[in-house]
Amino acid sequence: RSAGVIGAPFSGGQPRAGVERGPDLIRAAGLLQKLQEQGCAVKDYGNLQFEAVLEDDPVGGVKQVRSVGGANRKLSEAVQEVKRDGHTCVMLGGDHSLAIGSIHGHAAAVGGLSVLWVDAHADINTPLSSWSGNMHGQPMSHLLHELQDKVPVLPSFSWIRPCVSARDVVYIGLRDVDPAEHYLLKLLGVKVFSMTEVDQLGVAKVMEQTCDYLSDKVKKPIHLSYDVDAIDPSVTPATGTPVVGGLTYREGVYIAEHVAQTGLLSAVDLVEVNPLLGSEAEVGSTVSTAVQLLLACFGRRRQGDHPPDYRLP
Ligand code: ARG
Ligand code: MN
Ligand code: MN
Ligand code: MN
Repeated sequence: RSAGVIGAPFSGGQPRAGVERGPDLIRAAGLLQKLQEQGCAVKDYGNLQFEAVLEDDPVGGVKQVRSVGGANRKLSEAVQEVKRDGHTCVMLGGDHSLAIGSIHGHAAAVGGLSVLWVDAHADINTPLSSWSGNMHGQPMSHLLHELQDKVPVLPSFSWIRPCVSARDVVYIGLRDVDPAEHYLLKLLGVKVFSMTEVDQLGVAKVMEQTCDYLSDKVKKPIHLSYDVDAIDPSVTPATGTPVVGGLTYREGVYIAEHVAQTGLLSAVDLVEVNPLLGSEAEVGSTVSTAVQLLLACFGRRRQGDHPPDYRLP
């Protein structure tokens, strides 16, 4: 398989500067070379350039709506191009509001998707239920068919068509869910493996059940949206909304390995790496974990590997 990499240096979905530097840091840590070294063809589509929106007053408390809408429109187009070129799309964020454009573009190119959302947070607030006004806590509400009567049309959002059904979504890693979000997850009957279920079942059973659930009827292409804050902040501290009690490094890698083995991974987001939050060592640990998660998505195995034509020297 081949990877088509898009950098999305965007931070307007949340208030902390720095997350727009994620793509360059992940690149500088050698992601593209390492993918090639493990036998994966790579096409780098470069970083998107987002126009600054000068007049972007809050809309009913929701911040930077027009910036988020415009950036995601551009990202959706870019993801569509990567998918039409036949690659597995890698979107390096940036904050998690970018899942709107990434999933929208992915669905526009390939049709019905399964979405695997790995995160401490559900990111399913509606513009009306959000207490923070941050768009990175809302992307799922803009994408789900079932929530459209609960989501007002925001400026610069009219291009978005809901493209995901609640039954095609699985969450893993949740441990900081707002009351409105919990209400919506229950209302829609969304499949959730919170950290409690990870503790109860272990990550291997969680992944087995996740794949059984998602491939119940037809095997749809998988969109993996990986928020680096799903992993415990002892491992990935350089992120805007860390929550204690997260996935271990090994659990995080196992999830990516298992998704790779399905052969259905069609696009992956790696978001919320913020190099301005934390010491050099903390940033280093966060970035290298992000790289390892992505390598596992493209078939890196901890048991080791060798090319089929390997000759012992
Ligand atoms: N639930 C909170 C909110 O809506 C936090 C969201 C954090 N999201 C994230 N992508 N880190 O503001
Ligand atoms: Mn999160
Ligand atoms: Mn499986
Ligand atoms: Mn998130």
